[in-house]
Amino acid sequence: MDYLDLYPIHWPVKGKYKDTWRALEHLYRERKVRAIGVSNFLKHHLEDILQSAEIVPMVNQMEFHPHLVQQELIDYCNEHHIQYEAWSPMMQGKIFELDFIKDIADKYGKSPAQIVLRWDLQKGVVTIPKSSKKDRIIANTDIFDFELSAEDMRYLDGLENGQRFGPDSDSFDF
Ligand SMILES: NC(=O)c1ccc[n+]([C@@H]2O[C@H](COP(=O)([O-])OP(=O)(O)OC[C@H]3O[C@@H](n4cnc5c(N)ncnc54)[C@H](OP(=O)(O)O)[C@@H]3O)[C@@H](O)[C@H]2O)c1
Repeated sequence: MDYLDLYPIHWPVKGKYKDTWRALEHLYRERKVRAIGVSNFLKHHLEDILQSAEIVPMVNQMEFHPHLVQQELIDYCNEHHIQYEAWSPMMQGKIFELDFIKDIADKYGKSPAQIVLRWDLQKGVVTIPKSSKKDRIIANTDIFDFELSAEDMRYLDGLENGQRFGPDSDSFDF
């Protein structure tokens, strides 16, 4: 291929990510990559990189689901025009064990996956759910024919409890 659509730094490895960012800026200017971004960058990592960056990261890909919202980080990204993107949006399959998501799904006549992915969409979060099954991949895109009420959006936002299914950037042993 001639170019990549998006190339993010996977994790903020201390002492390395600023040099890596300079390399990504070079690739962007060379038009080898259409969008450059970061992943797993908390607010303090973003503040640090923005001090010397010539190009603001276009995307921050983070663990994001009803138990890990991190609204302050989303607000910071929105303020700096950094697109927030959700990895493990369905808690690696664990959302299907939550009765309260099933209750909302029944109310809208949708699946729990469709409810959570629609919540992502209405929050302005780009989402990258994964499934190994064709019928689920297709069903997971069928989220454009309904809208969650403001009350249900607030309810889903309120499920935040800081639970992670992947590592925390500040304590991950790179
Ligand atoms: N940037 C990072 O550091 C980072 C870290 C982790 C993950 N990621 C990326 O994030 C993406 C998604 O994350 P993830 O795979 O960890 O978790 P996920 O998308 O939250 O969950 C995937 C699980 O949900 C199940 N599933 C999907 N759709 C379903 C449906 N409609 N009904 C029932 N079950 C369903 C899948 O099972 P089946 O396959 O059986 O359908 C799979 O077990 C991946 O592309 C991954 O590479 C990025």
